[in-house]
Amino acid sequence: GAKRAGGRVKLGVNIDHIATLRQQRKDGFPEPVYAALIAQEHGAGSIVAHLREDRRHIQDRDIRLLKQILNIPLAMEMAATEEMERIALEVHPARVCLVPEKRQELTTEGGLDVIAHRTSLKKMIQRLSAKKIEVSLFIDPDNDQIRCAKSLGADTVELHTGAYAMAEGPVQAQELAKLLKASELAGKLKLQLHAGHGLNYRNVQPVARLPGMQELNIGFSIIARAVFVGLAAAVQEMKESMLCAG
Ligand code: PXP
Repeated sequence: GAKRAGGRVKLGVNIDHIATLRQQRKDGFPEPVYAALIAQEHGAGSIVAHLREDRRHIQDRDIRLLKQILNIPLAMEMAATEEMERIALEVHPARVCLVPEKRQELTTEGGLDVIAHRTSLKKMIQRLSAKKIEVSLFIDPDNDQIRCAKSLGADTVELHTGAYAMAEGPVQAQELAKLLKASELAGKLKLQLHAGHGLNYRNVQPVARLPGMQELNIGFSIIARAVFVGLAAAVQEMKESMLCAG
């Protein structure tokens, strides 16, 4: 049939929480690499994994295996540290997404302040780009942050959708308006446009419809749903939820 609007948007499946479950027992399962293959087979456009400094879920070995076995791009989320840069240069994922990281947080809270860290980020982006690794910056939907991301040579901005996802009613509409403005600016600056954090089956569609949106990175809601319906169905259902009705 005719391609529905929103169908062009890729789904990046974040598999961190398969590793979270594995690390509860350390018996070696469930295997995040297996999850990645199922997601790949059922419509994921990329696989996302966050190698945290404390290694609470994804391990170095997972990143290496993912890079070896996947046919779709591997996006490695990481803090902008020397250690992570070294691993990225060694493993060579298709894309690196730089995120802020605090050890105590439950998940990534707030976007990376690229203005505050512009000097060191610019150099890191140059080194990664020189090795043909795409660089994405995870930032709040803020015009100054987006302009700065462009000036540092980033290929992509991933807009933080956490505030939108947490809000309800008119406040959620305001947050969506911020995402819309940010998307328009990213388009004008010719930045690639991704978004993610806190997206689920109910709130994903308006974000998928943002102008120029190319990829949504979604983890927790898909893995949680997979407990009940299986990962293949959970990925397929998310792809359906992203599509626009009209
Ligand atoms: N994008 C980034 C940069 C993230 O750090 C995360 C969380 O790891 C996600 C997307 C996915 O968020 P969620 O698990 O809430 O779908």
